Amino acid sequence: MVSSDLQAQAKRHLWMHFTRMGTYADHEVPVIVRGDGCYVYDEAGKRYLDGLSALYCVNIGHGWDELAEVAAAQMAELAFYTNWSYAHPRSIELATRIAELTPGNLNRVFFTSGGSEAVESAWKLAKAYHAARGEPTRHKILSRRLAYHGTSMGALAITGLTALRTPFEPLTPGAVHVPNTNSYRWTEDRDPLWAADAIEEAIVFAGPQTVAAVILEPVQNAGGCFVPQDGYFQRVREICDRHGVLLISDEVICAWGRLGQWFGCERYGYVPDMITTAKGISSAYMPLGAVIAADHVAEPFLHGTTSFVHGFTFGGHPVACAVGLANIDIMEREEMCQRVRANEAAFRARLESLRDLPIVGDVRGAGYFHAIELVKDKETKQTFNAEESEYLLRGFLSGELYERGLICRTDDRGDPIVQLAPPLIAGEEQFDEIESILRGVLSEACERMADTRAHAGAVQA
Ligand SMILES: Cc1ncc(COP(=O)(O)O)c(C=O)c1O
Repeated sequence: MVSSDLQAQAKRHLWMHFTRMGTYADHEVPVIVRGDGCYVYDEAGKRYLDGLSALYCVNIGHGWDELAEVAAAQMAELAFYTNWSYAHPRSIELATRIAELTPGNLNRVFFTSGGSEAVESAWKLAKAYHAARGEPTRHKILSRRLAYHGTSMGALAITGLTALRTPFEPLTPGAVHVPNTNSYRWTEDRDPLWAADAIEEAIVFAGPQTVAAVILEPVQNAGGCFVPQDGYFQRVREICDRHGVLLISDEVICAWGRLGQWFGCERYGYVPDMITTAKGISSAYMPLGAVIAADHVAEPFLHGTTSFVHGFTFGGHPVACAVGLANIDIMEREEMCQRVRANEAAFRARLESLRDLPIVGDVRGAGYFHAIELVKDKETKQTFNAEESEYLLRGFLSGELYERGLICRTDDRGDPIVQLAPPLIAGEEQFDEIESILRGVLSEACERMADTRAHAGAVQA
């Protein structure tokens, strides 16, 4: 066990996000001190495969000196200027570069510092857009159950996770939740486009003249990488157009090569009215986010005295934009999107090979973004109850995977899953490592859960 000043100080002073800090009364805080490629290192020098790209962020991998140099040069030239009434070269250049990469007419970029700010801004922009066009009653936004869209009050209202929402009720009014695309738990005879049609039902029920936007991730993160059914987004696009509702593609995770394209919407062949993004936009070497709006969404704000009365001091920080530009350079030079497309099948095959384990119920996802759903009974798809899931995920899996050198996500905000999103530079070597560690740990999990059941049975008897 490493006992350092950092440990003591972390336990005494650092408020960790979404963290049961009580756990660290008798455990070490995992302190990551260095990153290199697909790997990070703790304070004892132990190496971990970063199978989650530091929370779906470090798409190009850790340790690119080039980005450090770009950031330093930008600080020396112009450390900071805002995008409130002024502009600066890097925000202009990055907005232009992004517009060149986006599909359709998504040509106008409003920068933020992260994903929640982007989602919050997109909802406000949708309301402001409709108001500017003479439809001020359009204020509601539809999102999917279990979907995570951020934590600020507006973004949290959009987030479809009850446990995250209820402690902060009442939330911003106007968010409506619709079914997600988790077909693993659908009956086989269900119409595959049922979840898309549920969006139309919700719009009609709410009253289309009150609905501003629908916000969806290309692949839904929370719940475990729910992919859309074939034709889902085309149907949703039609529904939005029919009812004058804007379609927002929340690509805080799914852009910047994560699914093998610059933007996740390209993979599924739809063009939204807005894209919200963050994380991989700068590979998180600096905090950065954006709302990318279509020309028709920006249009009402380009005349006379109208403006979008919204902003953040640090939105489009020059250093973050300089890093964002260099990140795109690296992604292009190293052909990261092509790489993900070429390697996706091999990555998927390693995860699929784990299906022989009784605990592996489903494997799903796209690109370098996959989840394994863990089940109690494979045949019936029976899931673990809350107590079992608590033991399985927090009592065993997360600690054991970390111990064996793999950082990934164990999550039971929906049914229990293990989730992987390695840096886009990951290849065969990392896929093998992921498979081998998962196989060992999940096999042991099967045994432990069987023992727990046997024990519970014995106690009952
Ligand atoms: C789809 C989506 N939207 C919004 C957010 C919020 O982003 P941030 O944590 O940068 O505020 C996240 C974060 O993971 C996300 O995955």
